[in-house]
Amino acid sequence: MTNKPWHKDTLSVRGGLRRSQFDETSEGLFLNSGYVYPSAEDAEAAFKGDLERFVYSRFGNPTVAMLQDRLAALEGAEAGLVTGTGMAAMFAAVASVLNAGDRIVASRALFGACYSIIDQVLPRWGVEREFVDGTSLEAWQKALSRPAQIVFLESPSNPMLDIVDIKAVAEMAHAAGAMVVVDNVFATPTGQSPIELGADVVMYSLTKFHDGHGRVMGGALLGRDEFINGDLLKFFRMSGPVISPFNAWVILKSLESMSLRVERQARNAARIAAMLADHPMIDAMRYPHHPSHPQHELAMRQMNHGGPLVTFNVKGGKPAAFAMMNALEVIDISNNLGDSKTLICHPYSTTHSSLSEAERMDMGITEGTARLSAGVEHIDDLIGDLTAALDKA
Ligand SMILES: Cc1ncc(COP(=O)(O)O)c(C=O)c1O
Repeated sequence: MTNKPWHKDTLSVRGGLRRSQFDETSEGLFLNSGYVYPSAEDAEAAFKGDLERFVYSRFGNPTVAMLQDRLAALEGAEAGLVTGTGMAAMFAAVASVLNAGDRIVASRALFGACYSIIDQVLPRWGVEREFVDGTSLEAWQKALSRPAQIVFLESPSNPMLDIVDIKAVAEMAHAAGAMVVVDNVFATPTGQSPIELGADVVMYSLTKFHDGHGRVMGGALLGRDEFINGDLLKFFRMSGPVISPFNAWVILKSLESMSLRVERQARNAARIAAMLADHPMIDAMRYPHHPSHPQHELAMRQMNHGGPLVTFNVKGGKPAAFAMMNALEVIDISNNLGDSKTLICHPYSTTHSSLSEAERMDMGITEGTARLSAGVEHIDDLIGDLTAALDKA
């Protein structure tokens, strides 16, 4: 293990690096499921826990271990576990902790599948769930006036970029006995450090900005050693939501350029937000570091940059939003995000189409809403593409 008190830019290139006996420069890809032992006694000792070594890739793999250690170092966490998808990570976090009769309190503005696990799956197992308006500290205070085991939140939220005051909510959650899990996908590791703000566990879909090139899927949970290598690891080893070592290796290599990419993506997003804020075809624009954001002061305090996502409302509803999207020549229509290519989606008819009209209204998603994930292209090409498309709409 080579994790040292380096800057994040150095840790994302060198954190967790372990070289094999071949002294390779780049991280090795260990694409194997099993391991061999020099003797039956060694195998017995490994299974007894007397010998620390890899025994089976559902339990651990050298390439995956490098990724886990690098992500933990970047996040300022003691330990990490990597999963096959972001949803596998989210599910493992709640399933490894909650028992029948327990309580989970969550912000309402969550990625759809996270919302559904809490809303539909956990109650089947006797877990009480309560959703709150994540932007209201009074709502959190009321919900956390009773004991809870988990507080789950996403900030900024998908797609409306609502901000939760992580520090204040973590204090209330801890007083109620709850472990705080933060989905930090939209903020990215360079934009926000939930552990420094008091969170216990940080969750990622590595599919997004960590891979950053729209290739492979992955998820991560980063936090205290006692939880990660305790209840979580026990659940993980039994249920097996592992990442392929190949996908882990792709993400390891992507991490080397993550801060460069995200820096450019956040800068592009801020420029796009500034252009949209003054555009006559736009009747509302959300960007955390733009002065018009309703929680601008909190976003400036909590986030190092405004993030790579911008959400806006096109005047004229769905026909105008669709006309704008169909007229784009550089920017692609996609429900994915975090790619080095700029992507745009219409949450009302895609990512959030399974929600009821009332739920969408509650979250502020209208038929004119578009969510843009800024890529690394030249800003003039992106602004030119968007303004030309808005002219056609
Ligand atoms: C905020 C957020 N959390 C979690 C997930 C789930 O991640 P995955 O698709 O890797 O399972 C996503 C995916 O879009 C997301 O945007």
